Amino acid sequence: VVRVGPGALRLLPGDLAARLPERDVVVVSDATVARLHGRALVLSLRAAGFRTRLLTFPAGERSKTRTVKARLEDRLLALAVGRDAALVALGGGVTGDLAGFLASTWHRGVPVVQAPTTLLAMVDAAIGGKTGVNLPAAKNLVGTFHQPAAVYADVSVLSTLPRSEMASGFAEIVKIAAAADRSLFEWLESHAAELRRGNARALEHAIAAAIARKAAVVTRDERETGRRAILNLGHTVAHAVEAASGWRVGHGAAVALGLVAECRLATRATGFPASSASRVARLLEALGASLAWPRSLDPSRVAEAARHDKKNRRETIRCALPVALGRMPASSDPTVAIPEKDLRDAIRALLV
Ligand SMILES: NC(=O)c1ccc[n+]([C@@H]2O[C@H](COP(=O)([O-])OP(=O)(O)OC[C@H]3O[C@@H](n4cnc5c(N)ncnc54)[C@H](O)[C@@H]3O)[C@@H](O)[C@H]2O)c1
Repeated sequence: VVRVGPGALRLLPGDLAARLPERDVVVVSDATVARLHGRALVLSLRAAGFRTRLLTFPAGERSKTRTVKARLEDRLLALAVGRDAALVALGGGVTGDLAGFLASTWHRGVPVVQAPTTLLAMVDAAIGGKTGVNLPAAKNLVGTFHQPAAVYADVSVLSTLPRSEMASGFAEIVKIAAAADRSLFEWLESHAAELRRGNARALEHAIAAAIARKAAVVTRDERETGRRAILNLGHTVAHAVEAASGWRVGHGAAVALGLVAECRLATRATGFPASSASRVARLLEALGASLAWPRSLDPSRVAEAARHDKKNRRETIRCALPVALGRMPASSDPTVAIPEKDLRDAIRALLV
């Protein structure tokens, strides 16, 4: 079940009651989201007859660790949460990844319901079944594939989300449109102002379309052996920007820069039209992204960081690049090898 729209979360207890005869749930949420939106969900689950507990952890990426997962496991044990229970991940991508991982190993796997509360989690993190935690050496190094039993993208919770967090989600929506959905891309171009203002109907349309597109890609290639790599568009450069800045540049800002750099790279590598690359940059800006190069960031360190990207085979840098707006290469491996000089040029071009 995927439900998108204002008030979608109100449908969760009724849907879950039909699937979960034991009516035993644990809502997992970061402390910020729990304070803003936890109570309403817990009360509605209790009203539907669920034994409902709420577990919280400190907000932020720094909580996506084995230590926090172990702490939550100790709490599940203390609460005697059995194999008939389900977890509900109420929060952003950090909560979704952490609670999803927790659910996938608790009693060797209990169902997880994803209730994403950031735009990024609605269109990206909650969809596709990837879960996990970070290790000091690398992000998302330990984890599982655990498909959610259901996803509830309730756009009304976005009213409390800070603007900078909205930008991360918009960058991912532009990514999926540029990679796989030209008509969504054009729709975004004509509705950018409404989306930026937080218009609920426009958000609902964009979120539903992005989810459907990502789900279609993931269904064909759940374990990322081939086509799922198209979802990495923009992310080779984005990860490098994040790493080279010591994670001071946020994910959304990094993805926006990454999309622009990689679409420009594509004009050389795949024949992607230069006019389309400009449209990607214009759309990102219309949705509120800043494409200004972060002043303290050294471009050669970014290029160096890209060489360490996990998608690289041996020393070659490989990027998933579009051939046209909304279209990636048709081959089963959509990535192309990029000469290091071209990558450097594309990164330098972001400075002007
Ligand atoms: N599993 C996947 O496929 C996948 C895909 C993309 C990203 N991710 C992961 O997602 C994470 C990033 O997700 P994120 O950007 O949602 O981060 P996040 O979960 O840390 O949320 C960002 C911030 O917004 C706050 N917040 C969340 N919802 C709110 C609301 N409605 N109102 C006010 N504040 C709210 C949170 O407390 C947090 O401080 C990363 O760890 C990334 O690795 C996973």
